[in-house]
Amino acid sequence: MPLAPVAGILTTEQPQDFSLIHRLDCSMVRWQRRPVEHEQELIRLAAPESPRLKSVVVLDALHDLLKGQLGASRAMQWLAADIQLLASHFQRVSGHTLLDISLDTISRQECPYFHIDNMDLRLVCTYLGTGTEYLDDSQADRDWLGQGENEKVCCGNQPHQAAPMDVLLMKGRTYPGPSDRAQVHRSPEPSPGQPERLRLRIDGAS
Ligand SMILES: [Fe+2]
Repeated sequence: MPLAPVAGILTTEQPQDFSLIHRLDCSMVRWQRRPVEHEQELIRLAAPESPRLKSVVVLDALHDLLKGQLGASRAMQWLAADIQLLASHFQRVSGHTLLDISLDTISRQECPYFHIDNMDLRLVCTYLGTGTEYLDDSQADRDWLGQGENEKVCCGNQPHQAAPMDVLLMKGRTYPGPSDRAQVHRSPEPSPGQPERLRLRIDGAS
């Protein structure tokens, strides 16, 4: 049976399903990845290096950019290969030729309020730490967006939360089509004892 979104969210274990983001009834595709032990170990090794990256780049130039900026340790090589993989998925689905790629180590809550992004599509992967919180269609009251009223936006519901390594491909405000398909989400609250977040974000720059 073909996969279909549930309340706007399509959850899959196959990255080929990112293309289903273009369905009219889909706001977000969540690729659930199950990292094997050696990948978890590499992520733990990568985190203390606090790798950072902010660049607008074409896919063909990404390999050299990552090699130059992330360094040659085993953990960074793994991270670079994963970023390359996710960037190629994003380009395939979004059609953008220029990619705006940022990798950050984050210890604060960047966007505490539920919101939608001002772009067509965005890919987010939290490698380490707590993942993005998001609401499905049955939980969100979009009329309250932008008013600093989290409880009213989520109608008192407990938001969903991405797991580390999950990849979220979200529609934003400027995606062509129905405006109520932009994915409602927010940064997670930092919780004591949790590691800093290591987060990748990919947007289209043209
Ligand atoms: Fe956002």
